[in-house]
Amino acid sequence: MKQTLAIIKPDAVQRNLTGRILAHLEEAGFRIRAIRSIRLTDAQAREFYRVHSERPFYGSLVQFMTSGPVFPVLLERDDAIPTLRRTIGATDPAEAEEGTVRALFAESKERNSIHASDSPENAAQEIRFFFAGADELNAG
Ligand code: CMP
Repeated sequence: MKQTLAIIKPDAVQRNLTGRILAHLEEAGFRIRAIRSIRLTDAQAREFYRVHSERPFYGSLVQFMTSGPVFPVLLERDDAIPTLRRTIGATDPAEAEEGTVRALFAESKERNSIHASDSPENAAQEIRFFFAGADELNAG
């Protein structure tokens, strides 16, 4: 699978790190095929993270993800899903490998600057969630 989805999260957008994170992804060989800015509603954040709805951190995660604008990004390269997961690093920045996006920029396990799809099924679903019908999906 050549495409995956990232979301630059509110903590990173608020600290003006969007450009640096996008540059990091481009340097890792990803092409940015689509990007938008959106302030998620409570219902959208709940829907996006519904796989975590039984977790103790769900309410806090939804509150954080709706606290400011985010940038969903459609990314493309060979082996996109595992490569992006490696590029962003572990969920907890304290455990993220040196040089990864989260090691460089994340504040905590929750305020961890970036999301990346974790499977082909979720990537397809998450791309549809933010970019359904977008012309740029199949452009050049
Ligand atoms: P993400 O890759 O977007 O997927 C689920 C998110 O839940 C994760 O990044 C974190 O922001 C958040 N998360 C995961 N585990 C925890 C935790 N133990 N405490 C708080 N937030 C968490």
